[in-house]
Amino acid sequence: STPKILAFAGSTRIDSYNKKLVKIAAAGAKAAGAEVTYLDLRDLPLPLYDEDLEAQEGMPANARTLKDLMISHQGFLIASPEYNSSITAVLKNAIDWASRPYPNEAPLTAFAGKVATIMSASPGGFGGLRGLVHLRSILGNIKVLVLPDQIAVSKAYEAFNADGTLKDPKQQESIEKLGEGLTKILFKLN
Ligand code: FNR
Repeated sequence: STPKILAFAGSTRIDSYNKKLVKIAAAGAKAAGAEVTYLDLRDLPLPLYDEDLEAQEGMPANARTLKDLMISHQGFLIASPEYNSSITAVLKNAIDWASRPYPNEAPLTAFAGKVATIMSASPGGFGGLRGLVHLRSILGNIKVLVLPDQIAVSKAYEAFNADGTLKDPKQQESIEKLGEGLTKILFKLN
């Protein structure tokens, strides 16, 4: 069956470089035959995770929507900014909410056995690479298979064209290939 991939960025910023980046990888995945859903976390605002809040009110509707989206997709394409050498609070908070079980549900249903490709973009010289180290570790620990290929795009302020593509055609192709690579693995697993 056709692999289903959820693509999202760890930034809510409207002009986010990481949103642009993940959309390029998503296009590569689509071209390779995947069904891709793009999710903007700005459209799913979540409260900061709080166990008391969850105990009193249950999972917020947006957290359920996020978790259900993850459950219905086998692959994740994630581009996250690096904040203070790690992943963003927005991304960690989304992961934390989605990691919470529904009543009588197996642990980590949104994550266990899923396959992810990660990438980052930053104005800095390292492109957010230190954040990817953390993201890979977090996802691996919640049983997501994170594929070895990843790309950090540096100097993001001058990397993109107005239409959202990358100015460097080789870099554009390599990001598309990240999406293609994830799709090919998912076809093999199916
Ligand atoms: C940053 N930024 C940043 N960049 C980086 O390469 N390494 C870092 O450690 C940090 N730390 C950091 C902390 C905080 C609180 C902010 C707000 C920003 C800069 C960051 O890469 C930049 O704002 C990007 O544009 C964010 O990605 P989006 O939103 O464009 O996808």
